[in-house]
Amino acid sequence: MELQDAINQRHSIRQFTDKPVEKKTITKIVELAQRAPSWVNSQPWQVYCAMGETLQKIKDAYHEQDIAGKQGNSDLPVMSREDWDPQTQANMKQWRSGIVHHFANFDVAHENMTNASNTLYNSPVILYITIPKASPDWSIFDAGLFAENIMLAATAYGLGTIPTYNSVRFPTILHQTLGVPEDERFIVGISLGYQADTTINSYHSERRPVDEILHFN
Ligand SMILES: Cc1cc2nc3c(=O)[nH]c(=O)nc-3n(C[C@H](O)[C@H](O)[C@H](O)COP(=O)(O)O)c2cc1C
Repeated sequence: MELQDAINQRHSIRQFTDKPVEKKTITKIVELAQRAPSWVNSQPWQVYCAMGETLQKIKDAYHEQDIAGKQGNSDLPVMSREDWDPQTQANMKQWRSGIVHHFANFDVAHENMTNASNTLYNSPVILYITIPKASPDWSIFDAGLFAENIMLAATAYGLGTIPTYNSVRFPTILHQTLGVPEDERFIVGISLGYQADTTINSYHSERRPVDEILHFN
């Protein structure tokens, strides 16, 4: 697959089939992603692959937290939407209205998004990316580059992905279930699998015109 095609085809998949992904394929994807650049080649990332019974335990434990009305407590802080810059707020609003338009009905869109979120997208695999707690903000940047490489490589292997805050909302559960040392922090979880043929997955979010974000001097 051409790189341009992988970049254009990648979009967030919010419903996966039950078809498992082979460990061999996951290993190849992560190995490719390791080519990402990082500050002084620090390669700050670790990847914890949750699948099968382990992933089910995480999903069950998250469900219990949700039923108990617990708020997420991710390692990276979440900023309330009103505090974002007006242009980024406008982009977020556009995304939401795009989804509603795609489903042609707010209630259906809301129900689909909520179900997808509550089941962690029914994905057979989540790749959890961590970095050491003792690392600079630059390592978060590096982890982002690594994460995008994972998603593009997965696209080239015919797999769908979605990076989510949702999957890293309860780090205590993740430390316990995945045996992740306490001196690491969770940056993002990438759900991975074969995409289901559903309306929610056919949504391609828009981007601002390039001349609004590219400034030649
Ligand atoms: C760090 C990060 C966290 C995200 N968390 C969520 C999430 O919790 N739930 C969700 O539905 N989408 C989540 N997304 C996906 C974004 O909504 C999505 O990338 C964006 O709308 C652009 O759409 P696209 O990925 O289809 O191009 C997240 C994306 C990133 C990069």
